[in-house]
Amino acid sequence: MIRDLFVVVVLNVLSINMLYAYSGPDRIIPAPVEYTLSEGVYSLKCDGSDVKIYLSSPDFARKVENLPDYAKEEAYALSVGKKGVKIYALTDEGAFRGRQALEQMRLLDKDVRYCEIFDYPRFRHRGIMLDESRSFKGKAFILKQIDALALLRMNVLHLHLTDAAGWRIQIDAYPNLTDHVAWRRGEVYHEWEAMGYPFTNADDPQAYGGFYTKDDIREIVAYAAERHIDIIPEIEMPGHSMEVNRAYPELSCVGPDGKPRPFSWDLCVGNDQTIRFLETVLEEVMELFPYKYIHIGGDEAVKKDWEVCVNCQRRMKEEGMSDKSGLQGYLVRHIEKFLRERGKIIIGWDEIVETGLPEQATVMSWRGTPGGIKASSMGHDVIMSPNTYVYLDYYQDLIKKEPRAVGHLQSLRHVYSYDPVEGISPEYHHHILGLQGNLWCELIPYPSHAEYMLYPRAFAIAEIGWTPQDKREFFAFRERALALIQVFRSLGYSTFDLTNETLKAQTGRLRFDGFPL
Ligand code: ACM
Ligand code: ZN
Repeated sequence: MIRDLFVVVVLNVLSINMLYAYSGPDRIIPAPVEYTLSEGVYSLKCDGSDVKIYLSSPDFARKVENLPDYAKEEAYALSVGKKGVKIYALTDEGAFRGRQALEQMRLLDKDVRYCEIFDYPRFRHRGIMLDESRSFKGKAFILKQIDALALLRMNVLHLHLTDAAGWRIQIDAYPNLTDHVAWRRGEVYHEWEAMGYPFTNADDPQAYGGFYTKDDIREIVAYAAERHIDIIPEIEMPGHSMEVNRAYPELSCVGPDGKPRPFSWDLCVGNDQTIRFLETVLEEVMELFPYKYIHIGGDEAVKKDWEVCVNCQRRMKEEGMSDKSGLQGYLVRHIEKFLRERGKIIIGWDEIVETGLPEQATVMSWRGTPGGIKASSMGHDVIMSPNTYVYLDYYQDLIKKEPRAVGHLQSLRHVYSYDPVEGISPEYHHHILGLQGNLWCELIPYPSHAEYMLYPRAFAIAEIGWTPQDKREFFAFRERALALIQVFRSLGYSTFDLTNETLKAQTGRLRFDGFPL
C-alpha cells in the first residue's frame, strides 16, 4: 500500500510536467507485443503519403505463420525510419490496425522515434457495448465512438437496440415499434419510470428518443466495416421486452381476467404469434447485419406473468415442463435453431447457461465470471464482460465526487487488473473469445456523459484484449492513458479527468466487490 501510494504520487508529479519530445510505440494503447527503438526521429506527413503498405511479404508471412488465424489476420509489422513508414500485413485488416497504431503515434506527436514494431492481438473479440434503448444517442455519436474503437485497435461494437425503455431499429413488418415505442416522455430513464413508463409519438414536443432507420444501420455498418469493426445487434428476449408488449398488446401474456398484459416485462413464450414476431424481426435484422453473430439477450426475465398466462401454461404442459424457466430455454433453443439454419450463431447473456444451452450458443458472462467459467467448461465459446470488472456504468471514482452511477467502484486500475482467462482452466482458454466493456445507460442520458464513462476505461479494455498479459503493467499504462486522454480531448471526446482521480481509486485497494477499503 505504501509502495503503491509512493509510485502514484511520484508518477502524478512527473506526469504533470512531463513533456515528451517524441512519439513512438512505447506511448500507444494498446501496448504492442514487440518493438525496438533506435536513434533518430522521423516527422510524419499528415497526408499519409510517406506510408507504404506491403501485403505480400514472404518474410512477414513467415513471421506470423505460427499465430492463430484470428491473430494472423490482424497482425502487422511497422517500421519508421529516415525514408518514412512501412507497414506489413497479410490482410487489409492487419494493415488497418498498423495504420491506426501509427495514427495514434501521430496524434501524440508527429515526430516519431525510429522503430520496428511486430504486433497482433491476444483475443479475437475486443468490444464495447452501448445501450441505445435506455438513452438513444444517435448515428453521429455511434460513428464517433467507432472512430475511437478503431484508434484503440478494438474490433466489436455491440448495440443494445431493444429494451423496455425504447425500440431503436426500423422493422418494416412491425411499424408500431418505431411509431409508438421509440419515443417516450422523460429524458432520463428514472423520470420515465416514475411517470409510469409513458410512450409518446415523435411529434410530441416532450418526446425523447428515436430509432435507427434501415439506411442509418447500413451507413453505420459500412462505416464500421471500413474500420474493420463488426457490429453485434442485440434484440432482447424474453425479458426486458415491455416495449414490444406495449406496441403489440396482442403478443403479450394474458392475465387471469383474459385480458392482455402490455406492461408485462417479458414476452409471452406461449403465444405462437410472439414467436413469429421474433422470427420476422430477426429476418429483417439479418438482412442489415452481415456478421455471424446475433445477440438475443436472455437476461433477467421476470417470468411472473408466465405463471398465470393460459398460453404459457399450455406451452409448459405440451412440452412437459415442470418449471416456468423451461419457457426461457424453449425460446432460446427455438431461436437458436432458427438463426443457425440461416448461418448465424447466437450470443446470449449468461442466464442462458441455466436453461439448456443450445449446441452452438456463445455466452456473454456478465454476472461476474461464473457463467463464463461454466460455459467454457461445457465447450462453449464465451465473451467475458463481468460486472465485477468491466461495467462502465459503474463508478470510476469515489461516489461523493462522481455523477450518480451504478454499483460499486470500478476504477481504471480495477478494470485494468482484469484478465479474461482468470478462473478458467487452461484446457478451456481457447473458448474465451475475448472481452467487452458494457455501458448501460439508465443513468447516462447525454452523449458527453457516455464518453466520460467510456474514456479512459475503454483504453484499459483495449489493452487487456490486445496486449499479452505478461507485458501489461498498470502504472506504465496509466502514464500512456494520461497522454491519450489529451489526444481524445483534442479530438472532441469528453473524458474522465484522470489527473484528478482520488488516490484511493488510483492505488486500487479495493474490496473483492470493488468498493474501496
Ligand atoms: C445485464 O447487465 N443485465 C446483461
Ligand atoms: Zn404468456
